[in-house]
Amino acid sequence: MSAETAPLAYVRGDIAEILAQRVRDAAHRSLNVELADALIRPSSAGRGGDYQSNAAMSLGKKLGQAPRVVAEAIVSALRADDVTSEVTIGGPGFINFVLRDDWLAAQVSGQLADTQLGVPQSAHPKRVVLDLSGPNVSKEMHVGHLRSTIIGDALVRLLRAVGHEVIPQNHVGDWGTPFGMLLEHLHDVDSASGAKHSISDLNTFYQQARTKFDADEDFAERARRRVVALQGGEPDTLALWKELFEESERHFMAVYELLGVGLTPQDTKGESSYNDVLPEIAAELEDRKLAVISGGALCAFPKGFTNKEGEPMPLIIRKSDGGYTYDTTDMATAKYRAQVLKADDMIYVVDAGQNLHFEMIFTMAREAGWVPDSTRTVHVTFGVVLGEDGKRLRTRAGDSVKLVDLLEEAVERAGEVVADRSELSPQERAEVARAVGIGAVKYADLSSDRDKDYIFSWKRMLAMDGNTAVYLQYANARIHSVLRKAGSAVSTGGGSVMVDAPAERALALSLARFPAAVLSAVENLQPHRLCTYLYELATAFSHFYETCPIANETNEKVRASRLELSSATSAVLEKGLDLLGIATPHRL
Ligand code: ARG
Repeated sequence: MSAETAPLAYVRGDIAEILAQRVRDAAHRSLNVELADALIRPSSAGRGGDYQSNAAMSLGKKLGQAPRVVAEAIVSALRADDVTSEVTIGGPGFINFVLRDDWLAAQVSGQLADTQLGVPQSAHPKRVVLDLSGPNVSKEMHVGHLRSTIIGDALVRLLRAVGHEVIPQNHVGDWGTPFGMLLEHLHDVDSASGAKHSISDLNTFYQQARTKFDADEDFAERARRRVVALQGGEPDTLALWKELFEESERHFMAVYELLGVGLTPQDTKGESSYNDVLPEIAAELEDRKLAVISGGALCAFPKGFTNKEGEPMPLIIRKSDGGYTYDTTDMATAKYRAQVLKADDMIYVVDAGQNLHFEMIFTMAREAGWVPDSTRTVHVTFGVVLGEDGKRLRTRAGDSVKLVDLLEEAVERAGEVVADRSELSPQERAEVARAVGIGAVKYADLSSDRDKDYIFSWKRMLAMDGNTAVYLQYANARIHSVLRKAGSAVSTGGGSVMVDAPAERALALSLARFPAAVLSAVENLQPHRLCTYLYELATAFSHFYETCPIANETNEKVRASRLELSSATSAVLEKGLDLLGIATPHRL
């Protein structure tokens, strides 16, 4: 390293990007090639560097030269002394980079003074319409809606953190066949008493209606007609509907509140809100020959979708009884989001089981010209929540688990975990129990690859050790306690970070990788990438804490630096958990 070069000033963003730019420049200078991708990635610990580039492998092939020769050419033309202290070539031609200690230190100091903690704002901010939660009116929210709500909320936060505009849309199921069934049942059972039904009553009610619908063909027929009456705006039916809708919404909001999810009634745009446009949607598709009558129903056949027999698969736009369907509403919804909300991206956070439905809707909405090619449509899928027996999570009675019950149990169990912390007031303890309990449920959901099913285990999600919310919350609380004892407020960056001991360096490197973790979670729409990062950070901190004394450190400068590293860790943990929608109490 050339000692004369001053380290590069603090930069926001992914460190790998800085190295990539330098490698591209060097390849241009030495080999006269434009590298599309410098293939930089973090090296696994102990592998001769902090980052490595694999660009020489593919480039060697392309140029008909040995990768090692290509690597040597790149390294000899490389100008990176302000960032790296050592660049070596390993194996067949990997380029290994060791970052300068003083640059890492400057990065962490800069990050701490930066309200974004290094997370860059997108150069091309988009308007993202994000479909999440989508519970069904007339049914109590169940654990199946948990994932859409939690993952969706985390994605809203993550997308906003990098500068995108996000319009959340809660597509509640407040229309369609099941609703007709419920209203018809309400009509049957004499509701003349005028008593208001609580949502729990409605849940039982729904089950009764379902049983009747399945067993009694006459009832089923009336229920279907009730849907048509509802769609036609028949006043008595509508009044009843409105009451049910409002009560359900109060219930949903209470759950969001308990969950710490930002959804409000303004974000609700349920199936019913598209009611008025459904006839036009059907008429337009029919007039333009994009939908045809088949078996009495108006069907649209998006290109490229066939069943096992090779027959084209339909979206049902209008049933033979005149009623509209989930398909019709989603066609209207796609049009609205693209044309009225002017979405650049349309993201749907809905269980993987509905993938075919959305792929057909996206294709048909494009065929109709409603969603332009420039608009991205993404179905963000997720797996099923399993019980410890490996089967879909159910209560002992075999019912689907109610969300409120589950969340209340989480807070209660967390209360037991934190119960013996006597220095907390009862009110603080209640807040901590809530933060830990709700955090445990959310983090357990967010920390595994969302496409996988996951097992709901109280023991695992409330474990003090391992990749859990409480482990991260505890690491953060410990930092606050260290800072309190040191009489130091959480520093906002005095620029006193020094990187010397291996554990200090490892912690600084981990801190500097926060922006990359956020960016990769956003790019892949995978919150678990941020979880994995936060767990690695907390682990690096715990190693630092064990090996680098703070309170007993006599060298003032070293002590100040360690306090600042601790502050930065706390800042990143709090920001990272906030992006996941998880609270971070200062005392645990
Ligand atoms: N209410 C639906 C369900 O419970 C989810 C809604 C998803 N969003 C949509 N645009 N279809 O399955």
